[in-house]
Order: sequence, then C-alpha cells, then structure tokens
Amino acid sequence: MSATPEGGATPWSGRFERTPERFQQRFGASLPVDQRLYAEDVAGSIAHARMLGAQGVLSREDVDAIVSGLQAIREDIEAGRLQFDVASEDIHMAIEKELVRRVGEAGKRLHTARSRNDQVATDARLFVKRRVQEIVALANRLRATIVDLAEAHVETVMPGYTHMQKAQPVSFAHHLLAYFWMVTRDVRRLRAAYDAADVSPLGSAALAGTTFPIDRRATAAELGFSSVAPNSMDAVSDRDFAADAIYACALGMVHLSRLCEELVLWSIEEFGFVTLDDAWATGSSIMPQKKNPDFAELVRGKTGRTVGDLVALLVTLKGLPLAYNKDMQEDKEPLFDALDTYADSLVAVEGMLSTMRVNTERMAAAALGGYMAATDLADLLASKGVPFREAHEIVGRLVLACERSGRRLQDLSAAELTAACPDLGEDALAALDIQSVVARRTSEGGTAPERVREQIAAAGASLAADERWLAENPPV
Ligand code: ARG
Repeated sequence: MSATPEGGATPWSGRFERTPERFQQRFGASLPVDQRLYAEDVAGSIAHARMLGAQGVLSREDVDAIVSGLQAIREDIEAGRLQFDVASEDIHMAIEKELVRRVGEAGKRLHTARSRNDQVATDARLFVKRRVQEIVALANRLRATIVDLAEAHVETVMPGYTHMQKAQPVSFAHHLLAYFWMVTRDVRRLRAAYDAADVSPLGSAALAGTTFPIDRRATAAELGFSSVAPNSMDAVSDRDFAADAIYACALGMVHLSRLCEELVLWSIEEFGFVTLDDAWATGSSIMPQKKNPDFAELVRGKTGRTVGDLVALLVTLKGLPLAYNKDMQEDKEPLFDALDTYADSLVAVEGMLSTMRVNTERMAAAALGGYMAATDLADLLASKGVPFREAHEIVGRLVLACERSGRRLQDLSAAELTAACPDLGEDALAALDIQSVVARRTSEGGTAPERVREQIAAAGASLAADERWLAENPPV
C-alpha cells in the first residue's frame, strides 16, 4: 500500500490512510465485466435523483445537473467517447466519478440515501429484464422457423428412434415440433425469470433502509418495476432472479444441444437426412472433401459452460450470510455468459434450420427398414382378440425369420403371414404400409397428419401469446 497522495482515490478515502496498490485494485475490480450495465446504472441513478428532488432531499438545480450530466455520460459512452478511469472499482463508481468531474458538488450528492448494494441489485434486475426480452424474441424466431418447417413436412415420413434403434415411423414435422415445445417451456422459464427480476430493490440502501424520506414506489414506477421488494435485507442480497435466468438459459442450451446432436447425426453420410447450408458448416484444412457441422457442435459444446454458469452462481450464493457480501460481485460473469451464449446459440440454431436442405427421400427410404411396422402387426392381432403378449411373440418370430432371410416385413406374402398366424391375411399387408403406420397414430398428441396439423395450430397460438407478451412489456 502506498500513502494516499491527495486523499481522494476511493470513495472511502476518509477512513483509509492509503490507496490500493495495483494488484488489489485489479483483484477487487469488476469494472471490466460490469461496464455493460452502464445504461441501467444511468437509468437507476436518474430515477433516484428525480425522486430525491421530488421528496425535497435534493434541490431542483442539483437534480437538473445530475440528470443532464448522466444523460451526457450515457451518450458519450455510447459514442465511444468516454474511457472509464481504470482505477474505478466498478461501473457505479466509474460513472459517479465521471459525474462529479463534470458537474462537481451536485454529483457528490447523488449517493444520498443509496448504497452500491441496492444500486447493483437494481442494475442487474433491469439488465435481466431487458436481456430476457431480447432472448424471448430470438427464441420466438426459432419457434416460428420450426413451425414453418413443420408445415412443409407434415407428410414427410422418417424413422422414429428409441435407444437410437429404429422404433416406429413418424412425421418429420412431429419430430421437429417436439423441439418447438421444449423451446416453448424455455420461454416460460425465461418469463418466470423476468417476473423474478421485476421487483425493485432500490431504496433498500446498504441493508437496513434509510433515514431519508424516500419514495421507493416512485423509483420503481419510473424504472418500470411492477413492485417494490418488501425487505431491504433480502432486496440487497437476493440473486434468485439471476439464478432463474441462468437456469432458463442452461436448460434452453440443453435442448438446443439435443437438437444439434441430431443435426450432426442427420448430416453424416450414413443418415443423409439433412444437408446443412455452406454458411453453417466449415471445411478442413487438410481433407479437401470435408464439410463439418461446426456450429451445431459448438452449440453442443457451449452447453457445458452454461451449466457451469448455473453451478458457479448457486455455489457462490450457498454460504452467504445476510446481507450483501462481496462474493456477490462474482454473479455477473456467469449471468452475462449464460445469457450471451444462449442468445447466440438461438441465432445459430435458427440459422441452421432455416437454411438446411431436408432430404425427404433419404428419410422415406430409411423408414422402410428396421421392421418398424411390427407393432402395428401385433396391434392388428390384438384387435382380433389375440392377447397382446401372444401377438408380440408371433410378430417377433416373423421379424426373426425376415432378418434371417434378409427381407423386410413388407416383403412377406399374404400366404406367409397366414402361415405364421391364421388371423393374418391381406389386411396385414395393408397394416405394413409405412405411411399408414404413421397415419394410424391418431391418438391425441400422436404423429398422424391430422394430429400434427392440430399441433401446428396449437404451436401457432402459443407463439402468438408469447409475441403478445413481448409487445405488452416494452423495454423501459
Ligand atoms: N461491484 C459490486 C458488485 O458487483 C457493487 C456492490 C459493491 N458494494 C459494496 N458494498 N462493496 O457486487
């Protein structure tokens, strides 16, 4: 530590006889990370200053100087004209310091009835609200693309798998729509995180509230918060909204990762179900023939990091006594990273889906293999009174016979079927038609084309509801 030169390097210089050394400054600083909260910080400070003015705590002139000073600072940051003083610990101190440099006295009054503890909680909540809305918009774009693809592929038949073994044929639209509903639930979780963030901590001050006659409802309303946190200690130490947002992103990434795993599989030669657009693939520096699905792999790979972000925040919070603890400064890196990674991954997946070529004939050919009509044959027997377990056994023997003779179930003649079981005849041949296997699954939520069309309508309605939510909650 070195002696304080002019006694003004930190806001706490009154109590300290020395200013921080370079290492301590760097270790303690969050400015490189939290500077992206500048717009929220300026908005929070303006609301706070105006409220102090309305309550008679600050004079009109001071409020005017603070507000116009802060607005100019925001403009300068946005125009790239302002370099923050690297000695500032965080964005809150950097902006305040710059304000004091510009407007003097009045700037020094801004921190009345406030602490960085309620300030940072306010900024982070505003940030989460804004970013969640941007991400919901991106998720909705992906959902719209899935619906478009589904509309085009209601009648496209592909193999459905369990254990990665061919199981029963399905409509490609049905398969894709499974991801629509996953992303729909992710949007629901994002909206829950938005609601969790939509509570104002401002006015809680350091932890216990303040002696000044503040109006917390006024600042909450100006900043677009729906309510005011009821407990000042909880307000400054609550990061549930950040955990909720990261969880929504992490699970959203898990879903995108599953889809990307399928895109990788589907684009290998052995499958050939889809061909990714050149824009969403890369080549090899040594093997001239290669076309690699890097972007799908990267989304899959980045998923691990977002899960790590969730674990990082939860573990950071688990041992913290009330109220604010500096540990909490570590919340922003995982929060920003999870939101950014998920936002970018939504863009990448939407890009891949909207530009890929769907090789319907490869899917149809693959759907002919794997004895996927076997269940329907057993169902047919069961519907004629053969106990299902026996029917299963009879069809199992037929599959074994086909496997031995290198044939498909559809290759069997009516006579061979009848020989296996007198209840099987011409109607069994009809049951083996793969299109009809799909069409027969008319149970609610099933893969039959009419059910898939119903599903597309429901998906459209669900998407419209989330679009309305975005329109009704414009960013403040
Ligand atoms: N940079 C700090 C953070 O991100 C701001 C709050 C600091 N408060 C304090 N009393 N040191 O958490």
